[in-house]
Amino acid sequence: MRRQSIAVLGSLVAITVMSLGGLAFADFKNLQVLPKTTSKEEIRAIMKAQAKALDVECDHCHKVPDMAADDLDTKKMARQMMKLTAEINDKWLKGMKGADKNKVTCGTCHRGHAEPPPFGT
Ligand code: HEC
Ligand code: HEC
Repeated sequence: MRRQSIAVLGSLVAITVMSLGGLAFADFKNLQVLPKTTSKEEIRAIMKAQAKALDVECDHCHKVPDMAADDLDTKKMARQMMKLTAEINDKWLKGMKGADKNKVTCGTCHRGHAEPPPFGT
């Protein structure tokens, strides 16, 4: 009897820990382009890559520390840009020789600038 209740308590603790873990894994509030299941690690990597490609900091698109808010036009523009970039790769370049090795990224056009500089300069 006693052993049983310890086992029940044990599984309750396990379930609680699991659901807390699940919350910590993906508690993003305002993902409209990226999948809701995107992990913290993935968000961090994607955001760092975007910031680097434009040579900006997080505050270029976010009113830090509120990353979920859509206060800045640059964030809304970036959503459109994420869709544009994904569509070029997944729809228009898909299946072409070398497409996997040469994926279009933010950096393809922006080349380290908040607004893409003209080519040939
Ligand atoms: C070029 C613009 C841009 C830059 C720079 C940028 N972000 Fe983002 N960030 C976005 C966009 C757009 C979204 C929303 C994506 C979506 O809707 O799927 C987002 C979403 C997020 C979220 C999810 C917020 C939520 O709860 O919905 C976090 C966290 C985040 N960014 C962190 C960062 C960090 C940290 C940096 C700096 C390393 C950074 N971002 C730099 C554009 C940017
Ligand atoms: C096919 C080329 C191309 C790609 C790829 C691209 N962009 Fe852009 N981006 C542009 C152009 C063109 C503009 C418009 C610049 C202007 O307003 O003069 C722009 C504008 C922006 C702006 C607004 C700049 C401002 O200050 O008003 C943001 C933010 C942005 N892009 C983020 C991104 C992000 C993040 C990615 C990758 C997910 C990306 N872009 C991929 C071409 C591109």
